[in-house]
Amino acid sequence: MLNEIQFSKAVFTLSDLPKNNLPEIVLCGRSNVGKSSFINSFFNKSVAKTSSTPGKTRSLNYYLVDGKFYIVDLPGYGYAKVSIVERNKWAKLVENYFGKERKFLVIIHLLDSRHKPTSLDIYLNSFLKSKGFDFIFLLTKADKLKQNEIKNIVKEFTAVLPEAVMGKNMFFYSSVKLTGKKELARKINLILTGSDGNMQVA
Ligand code: GTP
Ligand code: MG
Repeated sequence: MLNEIQFSKAVFTLSDLPKNNLPEIVLCGRSNVGKSSFINSFFNKSVAKTSSTPGKTRSLNYYLVDGKFYIVDLPGYGYAKVSIVERNKWAKLVENYFGKERKFLVIIHLLDSRHKPTSLDIYLNSFLKSKGFDFIFLLTKADKLKQNEIKNIVKEFTAVLPEAVMGKNMFFYSSVKLTGKKELARKINLILTGSDGNMQVA
């Protein structure tokens, strides 16, 4: 489990979604939060394009893991320089995608641990809740935090995301230092198999 990842396809229109019925783990969050870096670091392979220019990922990018399930990298939202037309296009695409009868295993909502959740983050969370999806909060770029900030950050996030419980459905993550990789791998294995024994991470 969680060993081999390969790029499968970029989906620009929903009629192009894979039709093989494999389950999906979805990554979403603001532009530049570290979704693509998460994929590369978690699987220890440069498979997803990352960029210091926000708003680069415009398609739903499908990655196949161990031939068994997909990781879907959604385009990021909230980047100010993206035009209204583009933003609306994003919202429609994502809303329609989540409206499909697909096998959503869990939605991983990435948030930059250095910034308070934005209104768009809170909106996304209430949307996912309204759909009844399971979700995990991943607080990214944890390598940029000072140890003495951690407690307050957890407080700030749980104040606006009341379902979040650190260590249960919320984890710090660093693509640079791999903070949180083991905990998250355990959690994902639990979701995939219903047990967390025999975990293997690339
Ligand atoms: P979009 O595709 O625009 O939605 O962005 P994204 O969420 O895929 O972000 P991406 O992975 O491209 O990362 C954006 C920037 O943040 C890049 O410059 C990364 O190197 C940096 N970055 C991502 N994760 C981390 C992290 O854990 N620590 C640090 N220090 N930088 C990170
Ligand atoms: Mg990206």
